[in-house]
Amino acid sequence: MKETMMPIQLGDIAPDFTAESTAGPIRFHQWMGDGWAILFSHPKDFTPVCTTELGEVARLKPEFDKRNVKVAGLSVDSISSHGSWAEDIRETQGHALNFPLIADHDRKVSDLYGMIHPNANDTLTVRSVFVVGPDKKVKLTLTYPASTGRNFEEILRAIDSLQLTSKFGVATPVNWKQGEDVIIASSISDEDAKKRFPDGWKAPKPYLRIVPQPR
Ligand code: BEZ
Repeated sequence: MKETMMPIQLGDIAPDFTAESTAGPIRFHQWMGDGWAILFSHPKDFTPVCTTELGEVARLKPEFDKRNVKVAGLSVDSISSHGSWAEDIRETQGHALNFPLIADHDRKVSDLYGMIHPNANDTLTVRSVFVVGPDKKVKLTLTYPASTGRNFEEILRAIDSLQLTSKFGVATPVNWKQGEDVIIASSISDEDAKKRFPDGWKAPKPYLRIVPQPR
């Protein structure tokens, strides 16, 4: 009988692993240091959607750096395949790979993270994203099918929210962007909120308390 793995859930410790990558061997937790990380899988080298995604992540790398987020991609292809494909990415997308691409040819990491969804495809990884915090806990996960490229600007936006909400007692509303008003978390009493937000808040409903983004 096939063993069923529990999916990785928010708040779980991101499993540690060692793997080969285009930037040399990686021991995940050690590589992360005390910052944030994003680990994302793509189904296959030399495929069109993946080519555009990797070029885009390379373009956005300075934005991840600004947020102290390390980036690692992964597919079940080999290091030599990644190496030749990297040249195509640079040529067609105008951005050379500037982050490690893990060569998970034995599917060790893919299995550990549940990146292969057999009812979608039993050999290739789906488009998984794991955002991991400095405490090594999983803060956000996303799963897209092979046919739908991800929006990495949205992932940066979500990271801005994760970093803000982990620091202050706030939550971010729909479509929130850096600099816009935020919501006082429901876990904070009005009494506590008065201490944290002495300038007060707007409350169209008692449970909907809106304040400027704290800095
Ligand atoms: C792509 O990246 O275009 C792709 C990869 C695997 C299956 C389908 C599409």
